Amino acid sequence: MLDMKKLLLSLAALVCLTVVDAQVRLGKSPLKAVVAAMTTEEKVNLVVGMGMHFPGLPKEMEGPVVGQTNDRVAGAAGTTFAIPRLGIPSIVVADGPAGLRIKPYRNDDSSRSYFCTAFPIGTLLASSWDTTLVQRVGAAMGNEVREYGVDILLGPALNNQRNPLGGRNFEYYSEDPLISGRIAAAMVNGIQSQGVGTSVKHFAANNHEFNRNTMNVVVDERALREIYLRGFQIALQHSKPWTVMSSYNLINGIYTSESADLLTTVLRDEWNFKGFVMTDWFGGRDAVAQMKAGNDLLMPGTRNQQEALLQALRNHQLDEQILNRNVERILQIILLTPSFKNYAASNRPDLKGHALVARAAATEGMVLLRNEYHALPLKGKRVAVFGNASYDMVTGGTGSGDVNEAYTVSLIDGLKDAGYTIDPQLQGIYTGYIAEQKARRPRQANAFLLPPPITEMDLDDRVITEMAGVYDVALVTIGRNSGEFADRRLEGDFNFTATEKALIHRVSAAFRQKNKKTIVILNTGGVVETASWRDDADAILLAWQPGQEAGHAITDILTGRVNPSGRLAVSFPMAYADEPTATGFPGRLTQASDTSNHSFVVSTPSEVTYDEGIFNGYRFYESAQNKSTLAPAYEFGYGLSYTSFGYDQLALSSKAMNGPVTVSVRITNKGQAAGKEVVQLYIAAPAGALPLPQRELKAFAKTGLLQPGQSQTVRFTIDARDLASYYTDRSAWIAAAGIYTVQVGASSRDLRQSATIELPRETITERGHDGLLPMSPSKPL
Ligand code: BGC
Repeated sequence: MLDMKKLLLSLAALVCLTVVDAQVRLGKSPLKAVVAAMTTEEKVNLVVGMGMHFPGLPKEMEGPVVGQTNDRVAGAAGTTFAIPRLGIPSIVVADGPAGLRIKPYRNDDSSRSYFCTAFPIGTLLASSWDTTLVQRVGAAMGNEVREYGVDILLGPALNNQRNPLGGRNFEYYSEDPLISGRIAAAMVNGIQSQGVGTSVKHFAANNHEFNRNTMNVVVDERALREIYLRGFQIALQHSKPWTVMSSYNLINGIYTSESADLLTTVLRDEWNFKGFVMTDWFGGRDAVAQMKAGNDLLMPGTRNQQEALLQALRNHQLDEQILNRNVERILQIILLTPSFKNYAASNRPDLKGHALVARAAATEGMVLLRNEYHALPLKGKRVAVFGNASYDMVTGGTGSGDVNEAYTVSLIDGLKDAGYTIDPQLQGIYTGYIAEQKARRPRQANAFLLPPPITEMDLDDRVITEMAGVYDVALVTIGRNSGEFADRRLEGDFNFTATEKALIHRVSAAFRQKNKKTIVILNTGGVVETASWRDDADAILLAWQPGQEAGHAITDILTGRVNPSGRLAVSFPMAYADEPTATGFPGRLTQASDTSNHSFVVSTPSEVTYDEGIFNGYRFYESAQNKSTLAPAYEFGYGLSYTSFGYDQLALSSKAMNGPVTVSVRITNKGQAAGKEVVQLYIAAPAGALPLPQRELKAFAKTGLLQPGQSQTVRFTIDARDLASYYTDRSAWIAAAGIYTVQVGASSRDLRQSATIELPRETITERGHDGLLPMSPSKPL
């Protein structure tokens, strides 16, 4: 009888709980009530993603639910747990950042495809210096994210391009944090205008692929604040990304995903970030430390992580309040997602329209490096096309940043579509060679990895001479690819191979003999050596990796349909050894290597020291640190146009900076072709307590399309914040009193107008917290 009573009582309690919980629903109830209604297991489920499965993944890294992501959107990178009883849906995240990365075909549906648009790579977009354009690209990308049923795109990626060999530089924007931050913000605003989210990544100092999961970056706080964190800070000032992705590496001995200094003090307390933080895939080591640091979501999620959290909660090593905080942050973003809103994805984005956006964007970021005697735009209609890459273009890099696009327009297709005649015999030789080389490649263990490059064909001299006799002009395209897991090589990648140099030389000699020009097209994701061969080229077009519309976009520039207006957002050195980071890159092992133990996520503990401090890129070339006063081959901000621009009427709204000051300058198209100019504002600070470059970029703008003779007045606003440096000893951004010079020009070395402005007194523009991420000898891992 007593037992019966007990049973009835507990049944009543259960019914009561169910009724109470049934009333609690995400979106209908306050977030705190939703969190309160969750069981501990449900909370742990929510902060650990549902996992990932691929061949070779160690058992302990398997996710709690295999196959879930594939069921939602095949080829997406991950999903979170659904808790239907509380109205919490699972959300889907996918890469990023050159377009949406999902599988183009699905097993259960062979009748149709799910291709996405491959937009130009990040480096190209940044070279446009055009935030409006990038926002437009973002909107097109975001539309595909939404229409293919994804909630958050894993991008943009805005780590600094610290060294030319960085394997993922192509995904990143620039060596300069102002450009990186402004372009990233434009991308976030564009993508999120479509009602989907972004993940600004990889926070922070993820500048190498070498042993990326165990790489300790040793960097001083000033360099961290002014260079490696600054882009993220600027991005967050100008946009509100739903999420931030922490990086794989450690900074000063602590995994970024386990660093409360980084993820809480800097990101939330100082910068006011309101979204949630997710790890990079399998990033960091200690799930409990990650939770405490403010890394709210662990992706893609493993059973081990779930168990570790449950155990830590049981042992009181993890306070449930911390879990509640992290859960709440995730829930408030889930509320914004298409999945929560039950959005019915069409699976039919406007791919045709987006291809046009990709093409237009690609033309805006290509950089004309050289144009002797107006070799470009092309004069004749008959072109001899050399180089493997002309026939087999590199649209973007490999790894998670690769997009599955429906087609690639090669240079040949682009030229033909524009009515150019190319040589069918030469085409046959190249396409035959490429097909043969591809067939010989060993099978890739993993389609994610970079396939070995096809060596440049050693073309017969007779063919070259014959082409020079028949065709008006020669085009030679040199291609490069790189991606996740490996940095680029110096020889045969940054430096051209002997065959590549010889090809350019032989083609150029044969065509020059006939008084004809040779145009070299660089189809690369990053910086290459140019000084040793550039004199053989009459023109050099840096086309980058321009996305699926590559051939059309390059042809648009070659023909003059579009006047090039891209400018370098990264310096091109004369030689690799000139780079301030050349000797230490990519770092050294701190433990004997045991490669037998290496896998997707296991690598040997390593370390790299950022000895150059803030003096990287143009900050190095334009500084006293550059003791031998090396000049770069092509400096930061550089790029030619088919017209020329005049700068005049520089005016400042005040001679003293007592608040924001407006700087205006008039730009006039002095040439014969319509064109756009990138106007760059640098500031030279007075000598003070800290070593400084001669000038730093503080603002930039792109003019509209100016017709010959037409002028446009460009305006910038600067304030004391733009004059400040980070003083580690005072934990603050401080602008020293004194006379500053505002320099406006067409590159970091082509300054056209200048004026001075006085800051009457020292100004603390922003305070940081004391002693963050102190540089310390690396801890044993
Ligand atoms: C990359 C991230 C990417 C993630 C998910 C990682 O390997 O570093 O950039 O978003 O995978 O695919």
